Amino acid sequence: MGLLTKPIKTLDDLFVHQLQDIYYAEQQITKALPKMITKVADPELKQALENHLAETRKQIKRVEQVFQMHGEEVRATSCPAIDGIIEEANDVMGDASDPEVLDAAAIAAAQAVEHYEIARYGTLIAWARQLGRPDCANALEPTLQEEKAADLKLTEIAEAHVNRAAAVTGGSRR
Ligand SMILES: [Fe+2]
Ligand SMILES: [Fe+2]
Repeated sequence: MGLLTKPIKTLDDLFVHQLQDIYYAEQQITKALPKMITKVADPELKQALENHLAETRKQIKRVEQVFQMHGEEVRATSCPAIDGIIEEANDVMGDASDPEVLDAAAIAAAQAVEHYEIARYGTLIAWARQLGRPDCANALEPTLQEEKAADLKLTEIAEAHVNRAAAVTGGSRR
């Protein structure tokens, strides 16, 4: 917990803290995705990331809506977990010189982001219900479904062609 966040004493405090955490994470993802989109080569992967960038922008609005529904100031708190995932993605993608291997690295990184988000939104929804706020849970549910769909789409793209292409390229260089 950062120095500027208020002490977390109740489940409600924890809910608000996690809302601030995911608000920060979604903003960092919005900044990271355009860079990833310009680097990847596979057209289907590019399109999937572009679609998810548009979804992510809507997801930020939903988090803002939940802050308002909960009577809380809209604010972000830094999230070292998402910073680490994005930093690692940039490092690995920076090192990959083959376009096919880079695409495989981008999918791996994007799926790490999606799994992080699935964990966070799953918890937020469960806590909102426990706190007697099904309205907040329902407002976040479409986002959880979008994160799961984005993760599945990335698996499909990887297994349909990107992994095979990366194996062929990588294999030929050995
Ligand atoms: Fe998201
Ligand atoms: Fe996502």
